[in-house]
Amino acid sequence: MQIQMVDLVGQYRRYQTEIDDALRGVLTNGRYINGPEVGSFASHLSAYLGGTHVIPCGNGTDALQIALMGLGLKPGDEVIVPAFTYAAAVEAAILLGLTPVVVDVDYDSFNILPEAVEAAVSKRTRALIAVHLFGQCCDMSPLLDTARRHGLRLIEDKAQSLGAAYTFPDGRQVPAGTMGDIGILSFFPTKILGGYGDGGALLTADEALAERLRQLTVHGQSEKYRHRLIGCNSRLDSLQAAVLDAKLPHIGAFIEARQAAAAVYDRLIRAEGLRIPFRLPASTHVFHQYTLRVSGGQRDALKGRLQEAGIPSAVYYPLSIDRQEAYRSRIRIAGSLENAHRLTEEVLSIPIHTEMDDELPAQIATYINTK
Ligand SMILES: Cc1ncc(COP(=O)(O)O)c(C=O)c1O
Repeated sequence: MQIQMVDLVGQYRRYQTEIDDALRGVLTNGRYINGPEVGSFASHLSAYLGGTHVIPCGNGTDALQIALMGLGLKPGDEVIVPAFTYAAAVEAAILLGLTPVVVDVDYDSFNILPEAVEAAVSKRTRALIAVHLFGQCCDMSPLLDTARRHGLRLIEDKAQSLGAAYTFPDGRQVPAGTMGDIGILSFFPTKILGGYGDGGALLTADEALAERLRQLTVHGQSEKYRHRLIGCNSRLDSLQAAVLDAKLPHIGAFIEARQAAAAVYDRLIRAEGLRIPFRLPASTHVFHQYTLRVSGGQRDALKGRLQEAGIPSAVYYPLSIDRQEAYRSRIRIAGSLENAHRLTEEVLSIPIHTEMDDELPAQIATYINTK
């Protein structure tokens, strides 16, 4: 048997009839750009997320850039970002002439450290990007508190965490991506809800901001050939929207399958020097990744042994933002990044996807324990 990090083709086969019908619908209606599938998917996703405005766009990286543009940030403004994350948020900020302020993450949850954010705020700081990494929400209550007290705009990058929810101390449970000013999503094929190509979306509860974001995705047009803003061309293709709309009703099953596999790993992985993923009590976890921490400098050796046994694994992420050549001279580092640095040496993500039965994670766990 060929073990894969994700089994996209297996998932397609499971839903093939619905997906093929959806694709055929687009191919035969000829509305390949801005077809009815795009609006239909946006309204279904909005309903899934409790009624927030959904603005589809080309991909998650564009969504981050459009979010920063939509909030009216100016060159030289600072945006606080985590040191341990995918690079998209930092890249988008730098492209707009903003200064990313890089802060440490929590060693257990991998997510941005609220106290590091609080300590990093300067007179030039205007925004904070909270990345809900690997499928679990950041600790939003203190982050929202810091944002409120310092007048910062808050963008939630939930590219990896569609379906996750955060519970506030008063008991309110809220979907990831709907707590700050803007949430962003990616529909990259391997994401919780993945298309068969690129795709993304912006989320906001603010009607006027939603309209501005919508205009930014279509060359800043308020109506055809009336350009009010400097925007971009960033659209979700009708074909991708049709696929996503066909898959959205199954998102609960996708998440349950991932959580079931994670529960098997949690129960069975026992090897010395390995830590299973920490679960933040205030957040649900949709397990976009199942990420172990391997101490004692043994991560790469374990990765090699797994590879010999035909078990793939991946290091997300091998370098923190402050150590990336392209960004080094364009960022401000605020405080120690000790946890981020340690994580780049310890993390190892093992296979998790929607097509796993209980046996596969059990086999992988047993192998990890015995080697
Ligand atoms: C946390 C995070 N943010 C943003 C992105 C960018 O999304 P896209 O690949 O759709 O541009 C990704 C990944 O792919 C991601 O993992």
